[in-house]
Amino acid sequence: MTASTLTRQIDPAEFAHATELEFLAAYDDGPRPPGWRLTPRAVVTFIAGSDDRELTLPKGVRPEGVPVKLTIPRKFVGDRSLVERCVVTLAGERGLLLVGEPGTAKSMLSELLSAAVCGTSELVVQGTAGTTEDQLRYGWNYALLLASGPSPEALVPSPVLTAMRTGAVARIEEITRCLPEVQDAMVSILSDRRIAVPELAGTPGATIHAAPGFTLIATANLRDRGVSEMSAALKRRFNFETVGPIPDLAAETALVARQARAALDRVQTAFAVDDAVLEVLVTAFRDLRAGRSVEGWEVERPSTVMSTAEAVAVATSLGLAAAYFPGDRDVLSLVPAHLQGVVCKDDPTDGAKLLGYWDGAVRRRAEEGARLWRQLWELRDVLQS
Ligand SMILES: Nc1ncnc2c1ncn2[C@@H]1O[C@H](COP(=O)(O)OP(=O)(O)OP(=O)(O)O)[C@@H](O)[C@H]1O
Ligand SMILES: [Mg+2]
Repeated sequence: MTASTLTRQIDPAEFAHATELEFLAAYDDGPRPPGWRLTPRAVVTFIAGSDDRELTLPKGVRPEGVPVKLTIPRKFVGDRSLVERCVVTLAGERGLLLVGEPGTAKSMLSELLSAAVCGTSELVVQGTAGTTEDQLRYGWNYALLLASGPSPEALVPSPVLTAMRTGAVARIEEITRCLPEVQDAMVSILSDRRIAVPELAGTPGATIHAAPGFTLIATANLRDRGVSEMSAALKRRFNFETVGPIPDLAAETALVARQARAALDRVQTAFAVDDAVLEVLVTAFRDLRAGRSVEGWEVERPSTVMSTAEAVAVATSLGLAAAYFPGDRDVLSLVPAHLQGVVCKDDPTDGAKLLGYWDGAVRRRAEEGARLWRQLWELRDVLQS
């Protein structure tokens, strides 16, 4: 499981964490559900981390190219028990639906789960209003179809069909954006665990059965066409898990710093933004997201979701600005305009709510003598231009 990482903007999880996955496969040799690469416990460790503990391979187990000791970093910041429930759902070959606000790492979690369970996160269908049933089932290679009629060779499998054949996990992103009749195609796949190919009737290829291990992870965004519009039949075939925002300020700030640093690493640039500035940024995101400041002051919430993913994007921009325009300006002075950009995404008039936040929480913190908040308060004019 190695591939050049130099030519890819983003490495899929199974390549980015190949060493960890091989290590965990050797570390925990307990029983695995059919088709699984790792034990359920090792999958949880891969995603939620080893709690800073260094794990050591058992005596005599020395796979080539795998270190003997390894600390597994936490990748998904959140409840470990949520990850455990997801893993148990998949071990039972039930469909898993991750629901939540935008930018809460639903897609990331589904990618990590599928990479750890079956070694690939690439069997994915992106749900849109234009997604067709063929994209969930199969299509045809029309040149072959015209030349020699329907045959298994002329059939073009969808990622879901490939997952069924190989006993892997298929991912469906934003399932609620698909039209109801397309969503219904999933009902029969999830209950019968087979796909009929009427064009091949009378031949062995007429029914394709799912191999053990096959299951689905879907994601759905609460801000789009909601899960309420999913049919009851489809809902019943999925276990729902709600992914929420990160509850803890320190954990969110650390994550934002880590992800922004990783983004700058990818362009071989050092990340030089102070932790204190990041903490101010993440605090502002959290206050606006919650509609209440840490101190308990009322804050008017903008309609845009102030997600961790957006905070990572802003922190990355601050890091790039500091690297490419060094010494031009203090990075903190870039924060108000970036916040304004995020806040006004859904509704341009929400700029007024950000000004309200400045006149409330930012001013009060400035008056209490917090240095960075005083600097931010002095930058209020930026928001009015
Ligand atoms: N709890 C978290 N743990 C780790 N990373 C997180 C967490 N929350 C947000 N992130 C960051 O947010 C990024 C975006 O997450 P992702 O795209 O998976 O979100 P999403 O929930 O699928 O959003 P959308 O609903 O818009 O598709 C992640 O790559 C990561 O940097
Ligand atoms: Mg997503």
